[in-house]
Amino acid sequence: MLKRIFEKTYQWLEDRTGLFSFIGHMARHPVPSGARWWYVFGSATLCAFLIQVVSGIALALYYIPSADEAYATLKYITHDTAFGGFVRALHYYGASAMVLMVGAHMAQVFLQGSYKFPREMNWLTGVLLLGFTLVMGFTGQILRWDQNAVWTAAVAAKQAARAPFIGGWLSTLILSGPTVGGSTLSRLFVVHVFLIPALVFAFVGLHLMLVLRHGISEPPIPGRKVDPKTYRREYEDSLKKDGVPFWPDAAWRDMVFAAVMVLAIVLLAIVFGPPELGHPPDPSLIDANPRPDWYLMWYFAVLALLPHGIEGFFMVFAPIIAGALLILLPFISNHGERSPSRRPWAMAFVLMVVVMIGAFWWAGVKSNWSPNFNVKPLPVEVVGAANGPVFEGARLFELKGCLNCHMIKGYGGKRGPDLSEIGNKLSADRMILLISNGATNMPAYAANLTPKEMDELVSFLQSRQSDWEPPK
Ligand code: HEC
Repeated sequence: MLKRIFEKTYQWLEDRTGLFSFIGHMARHPVPSGARWWYVFGSATLCAFLIQVVSGIALALYYIPSADEAYATLKYITHDTAFGGFVRALHYYGASAMVLMVGAHMAQVFLQGSYKFPREMNWLTGVLLLGFTLVMGFTGQILRWDQNAVWTAAVAAKQAARAPFIGGWLSTLILSGPTVGGSTLSRLFVVHVFLIPALVFAFVGLHLMLVLRHGISEPPIPGRKVDPKTYRREYEDSLKKDGVPFWPDAAWRDMVFAAVMVLAIVLLAIVFGPPELGHPPDPSLIDANPRPDWYLMWYFAVLALLPHGIEGFFMVFAPIIAGALLILLPFISNHGERSPSRRPWAMAFVLMVVVMIGAFWWAGVKSNWSPNFNVKPLPVEVVGAANGPVFEGARLFELKGCLNCHMIKGYGGKRGPDLSEIGNKLSADRMILLISNGATNMPAYAANLTPKEMDELVSFLQSRQSDWEPPK
């Protein structure tokens, strides 16, 4: 009885939609035999994207994209909802996985010459999807809306403003206004949650349609060249001779790899948890350098390490040139050898890019070009007072971000000089002057401190002496 109902329903659905035979047809379409583990990165990228969709929707159920509430809702999600911290961690490591998989997929397609005739459009839609992925990473980080996020947005806009001709327009586009504020957050939210995801869905659809249209590229064989005149016929012939159905002969590797990736993401999320929320945002402190997530860190490190004056040009022209090269690639060389062993320059190029990104990433991690946003607060023994101006000054020292750049007795960041004994060195007047006006690489605080706060801050700094005793 039940079986009959199922069968009837199945037949009715199949008759009216054709969905089942369509899926069956797609799953069983012949692909070249000998597909290897190399081919798993594309489907893994898709899988990572689906994790982002699911975890992202879960986060959006609670997140409020307003400058006043975003930080508080994230704190709430992390600490007061069931699995909220875990979902945030999933979304974070899922993003990392997606960036890694896009990179691996691209490197593989490039190395094996799969972008050549007739798959030029597969490559081009892929390049767009790479761009969308990076925009998602950048905007997502700003939605975290802690001090680091706000500074990231401000610095990105400042850098963009240096671009010749379009600088002002670019900067306004990033911030949705002249400065970081409420509309920055709500517009970036729209970009991150509606605009780019819609584009990603559309282009993933197109990308997959193209994969079906041209078939999966056959593993390259040294000496067998792509000739646009004969390629299609040869491909059809080889499929007829020894093609295998996509499911299950080729797809099981995708399944296994995706499962391992999902497991790794879940384990990372459980072990390390979500990215820490820094101090609540203080948009008045925007003169520092932020520390973005790892997949953008290398680019910010390049910008920070380049000599002054060049970085404006680099920041605009490097992405344009890189993008143009990626777009032109399949038109510059759409035929000839595919095997990496016959295209040593392709291998050298990928190796160079990986080493360069790795080196700059490492430089970004190691160097002190940016404030440290994960500093531990100063303990009472170090402050030397539990109330009074010295204590209030120490609190301000943390609150105003001084500690992110300056070290006190081993606590704090390394961007600026160690201030453990600054009281021996600078008079109170010199301190006030310096803090008000700032210095090279140190923001000016004149507008951000009341006279009372300045006094307390200076009391704290004056007490930083080698033989200072707390007043009895
Ligand atoms: C973005 C990082 C950054 C922040 C934030 C920052 N500083 Fe600095 N600070 C520096 C740097 C870098 C220097 C070295 C000055 C230079 O480059 O000329 C410096 C120098 C100083 C000096 C002089 C040190 C010396 O040995 O002469 C004092 C005092 C000081 N900062 C106090 C503060 C206080 C107080 C705050 C918070 C209100 C603060 N700084 C916030 C980066 C920072």
